[in-house]
Amino acid sequence: MRLGVENRVCAITGASGGIGFEVTRQLCAEGARVLMISRDPEQLAAMSEVVRAEGATVAVLVLDVTEDHAGEHIVAAARQEFGGIDILVNNAGFARRQALEDTPEEDFRAQHELSVMAPLNLMRSVIPGMRERSWGRIVNVSSSAGKRPSLMMPDYSVGKAGMLSLSRMFAERYARDGILVNAVCPGPTRSELWMQPGGLLDQAREDSGAATRKEAEAGVGAQRPINRMATPEEIASVITFLCSDRASFVSGSAWGADGGTVPVII
Ligand SMILES: NC(=O)c1ccc[n+]([C@@H]2O[C@H](COP(=O)([O-])OP(=O)(O)OC[C@H]3O[C@@H](n4cnc5c(N)ncnc54)[C@H](OP(=O)(O)O)[C@@H]3O)[C@@H](O)[C@H]2O)c1
Repeated sequence: MRLGVENRVCAITGASGGIGFEVTRQLCAEGARVLMISRDPEQLAAMSEVVRAEGATVAVLVLDVTEDHAGEHIVAAARQEFGGIDILVNNAGFARRQALEDTPEEDFRAQHELSVMAPLNLMRSVIPGMRERSWGRIVNVSSSAGKRPSLMMPDYSVGKAGMLSLSRMFAERYARDGILVNAVCPGPTRSELWMQPGGLLDQAREDSGAATRKEAEAGVGAQRPINRMATPEEIASVITFLCSDRASFVSGSAWGADGGTVPVII
């Protein structure tokens, strides 16, 4: 099944690793052109070379999405490389485990900037061009923690819940212009966020007292009906579908890709 995204111009934030990198890979395999965005120039250059070697057409933009005017920079860079942006994936994100009583207000503010203000700014920047062309797809990568707050990630949970509200509002406002906005809510996924040394897996291991990383991962998996963590490819497949022409009647959704973690039908 082809997804109908050949030559579409995509902007993907957090494209240098984990889920965002796999979305880049999958969209490029379908013939789309991708502006890969993240902060670390060396990592971004290295990952862009990986997809180029697979035949992808990509350009890179080193940018912190929480900077003022980030959206304008992204639109300008995409226009210079490829043309107007058809598809935006707000995927950049960060989490760490900490108890509610230990979470400083500045962390709540930082997550609000990353999960609400940056996606707001980026959506506002790309929508005028999408409206002119009467076609657009926006996917906001939230979390199962955005639907069901995680006590061990309070600031993250609140930011991701805000993102769901923002996403739903933009969906309702712009669907009639041909711009379909959706959110995806992944559960625990084996990206760098979890698997890198000191990442969420090591943090979970410390909290649970598990003897090994393997045991800690099994424990995280066992907390969901599917009994394992996701791979970045599995989450990317859902995002890629929502970016495509095939998702032409999906708008305003918050798609769970969480192995059954959130135990409600929303
Ligand atoms: N992994 C999970 O279990 C899971 C579950 C639910 C939701 N999610 C969400 O999925 C998204 C992707 O997560 P992941 O697991 O793939 O994480 P990851 O492996 O840590 O990758 C995060 C990416 O975002 C970039 N990034 C972070 N902050 C940024 C900023 N301010 N500006 C620009 N780029 C930034 C990182 O590169 P630089 O550091 O170089 O900027 C990297 O490319 C996040 O929004 C995350 O919250 C993940």
